Amino acid sequence: MKTSPVIEVKNVCKSFKNVQAVNGVDFQIFKGQSVALLGPNGAGKTTLMEMIEGIQKPDNGDILIMGRKWKGNERQLHQMIGLSLQETHFIDRLTVSETLKLFASFYKLGKQRVNEIIQIIGLAEKTRSYVVNLSGGQRQRLALGIALLNDPKILLLDEPTTGLDPNARREIWSILQHLKKHSQTSLILTTHYMEEAEQLCERIIIIDKGQILKQGSLEELLKEDNDEKIIEFALDEPNLAIERVSNPSGFHIQWGANRDKGIIALNQIERQLPEFLTLLNQNNLRLRHLECRRKTLDDLFTTMTGRRLHE
Ligand SMILES: Nc1ncnc2c1ncn2[C@@H]1O[C@H](COP(=O)(O)OP(=O)(O)O)[C@@H](O)[C@H]1O
Ligand SMILES: [Mg+2]
Repeated sequence: MKTSPVIEVKNVCKSFKNVQAVNGVDFQIFKGQSVALLGPNGAGKTTLMEMIEGIQKPDNGDILIMGRKWKGNERQLHQMIGLSLQETHFIDRLTVSETLKLFASFYKLGKQRVNEIIQIIGLAEKTRSYVVNLSGGQRQRLALGIALLNDPKILLLDEPTTGLDPNARREIWSILQHLKKHSQTSLILTTHYMEEAEQLCERIIIIDKGQILKQGSLEELLKEDNDEKIIEFALDEPNLAIERVSNPSGFHIQWGANRDKGIIALNQIERQLPEFLTLLNQNNLRLRHLECRRKTLDDLFTTMTGRRLHE
């Protein structure tokens, strides 16, 4: 028997005045899957998440959670979902422990579950600290703890690590990796960090301007152009370079926002790299930096949109 999806998003649209925030999005998520909605600021991630969370209503299309629409099923669906919003506003004058107890009381959960959560999110030393005194990473872990209190079947996290330093980000990742290993929770998270999508999610949905550009596993997304390698370079005289190395040089160069760096995708790097160096030489352009690497999701995004995931 084919299992039915945990979340089904069918041709969902939402606009605000003259902004089409979400424009015909379709996808399904099955039990235990982790999916990233990866896209730059303004892509429509939060609007989409809030529609899945029942906070906003689509103009068009349907959203089914465990086969049910939000309308008329609010109570049951709230029991299954744990969520954290892009910005969490805590009550500053409550401690970590008081905050968790307050949320636990909404679900009729006791002290024991609060203690378990404190262990899971690694805030045992902070239980008596006022929320206002927590670091950014600790606040995000508390928000995650609140989302996990009810042992949800579905976890929805909107930019769980945005603005955090790499260490704090890794702490959140490790909590989520542990959860993935030991539970059947289905996860959707939004992010503009490709590393986050790669680390935590077996499926990645790239969205931009309210639409899905591409979706699949990391391997599937990068497979089509598997042979392509990326060279990234910087030149001493960036402005001259744009005039001199523009087409018809044969190299399709994506210039960075400041026009000092360029990126080229090459499918025969052994032959093309020497040609590129010769071209620079012929035009009296000197390299300041050159790097060859494998293609990433950010490169894929750039090839599709001409922009980077975060400028
Ligand atoms: N309440 C709102 N009123 C007007 N425009 C909005 C509102 N919410 C979102 N938008 C617009 O919709 C687009 C998508 O926003 P959002 O869903 O927040 O994107 P993301 O979370 O990917 O950054 C943006 O252009 C944003 O300005
Ligand atoms: Mg957002």
